[in-house]
Amino acid sequence: MAFSEKLRARYQDILKQILQSGLYKQERIIHDKQGAKVAVEYPPGNAQQELINMCSNNYLGLSSHPEVIKAAHEALDHRGYGLSSVRFICGTQDIHKELEARLSAFLGTQDTILFSSCFDANAAVFETLLDESAIMISDRLVHASIIDGMRLSRAQHDSYKHSDMKHLRQKLELHQDKDIKIIITDGVFSMDGDIAHLAEIVQLAEEFEALVFVDDSHATGFIGKTGRGSHELCQVMGKIDLISTTFGKALGGASGGCISGRTELIDLLRQRARPYLFSNALAPAITMTTCKVLDILQASTKARDSLERKAIWWRKALSEAGFIVVPGASPIVPVMLYNAKLTQIFADELYARKVFAVGFFFPVVPQAQARIRTQVSAAHTEEDLRVARAAFIEIAQKYDLLGKTKAELLNLQL
Ligand SMILES: Cc1ncc(COP(=O)(O)O)c(C=O)c1O
Repeated sequence: MAFSEKLRARYQDILKQILQSGLYKQERIIHDKQGAKVAVEYPPGNAQQELINMCSNNYLGLSSHPEVIKAAHEALDHRGYGLSSVRFICGTQDIHKELEARLSAFLGTQDTILFSSCFDANAAVFETLLDESAIMISDRLVHASIIDGMRLSRAQHDSYKHSDMKHLRQKLELHQDKDIKIIITDGVFSMDGDIAHLAEIVQLAEEFEALVFVDDSHATGFIGKTGRGSHELCQVMGKIDLISTTFGKALGGASGGCISGRTELIDLLRQRARPYLFSNALAPAITMTTCKVLDILQASTKARDSLERKAIWWRKALSEAGFIVVPGASPIVPVMLYNAKLTQIFADELYARKVFAVGFFFPVVPQAQARIRTQVSAAHTEEDLRVARAAFIEIAQKYDLLGKTKAELLNLQL
């Protein structure tokens, strides 16, 4: 047998190490639709509990919105369940073209190409568009899918310190003579919730004739006055060459993603991007429902306005209580505990108080940067947030965490 006892022991050992270092991730099983409150079974086999959900990407509360569900039912009736084909063979329906046009109009770009996920979109883009003559200069905190995408590309890679515009300028000077320079950043950084300095990035790009790529997965639908994304907030709409985003978060939360940007770049992706050419077309129900989501967002900014208000309240409530909160202006509010084991204990204590949030630790974030990442949703009530705040404070007092430094938190005997 190929999977020998020796091999088995090797993998068991790795898993044991992960467990012992407090890095083992336990999945919580939800018996419900995604929402502000969810019925969770944890640990597996235990009775379900209804918890306030502080860790989903359901920013606008659309994941189980009645109009969204109705649109998905209609899509199933009118365009079927699946396409059983890649786009260029027999997998392109009218609704795929419609969604691509709608996204271009929403994001203020020239053209858009759909992918099965934003992970796929990010995996496709750099390999397809760049060769050895190019340099990719990325922020050091970009999402894992961008890192993997850059690994697939033949272009050279360099990075700049997180959101450090002086450092970015130095890197652009260093790589001045490259044929193609591309600055790569998240719009809203997924682990820290801060927003890229897109106005300065665009200025530098113009000065050094560089392209700009922004992953706006944690921004599309709610950042900016009308929810177009971080480029709207930073007043650089029309100046970003490539935007990638997901439909798996604020836009209904099912799955799917896209790259939106300059006509020629999108056209080349359609011709050559491997995750587009060799993977099934986006399911009709998701495609048509994402169009409906755009209708909802364009009819009213009520949901994003409410999200903005609640996120400001939540961020202030936690920092005033004495937690170390990464500063920012998005609904991602990370509570820094630094210590991986502590985040797991904290998450269990939250669970016992009917609040659902999980610890993020290595390899999801760097070593000694463990945190409880909280995320606010427009679907939360003010009462939900008050209850969650009380739970956070009670646990922090129980373990005497408030006012402790990073070093003290890391050295806690648990
Ligand atoms: C910044 C960022 N980019 C890309 C992705 C991947 O998106 P998808 O779930 O559509 O693959 C995520 C999801 O975690 C993300 O946070």
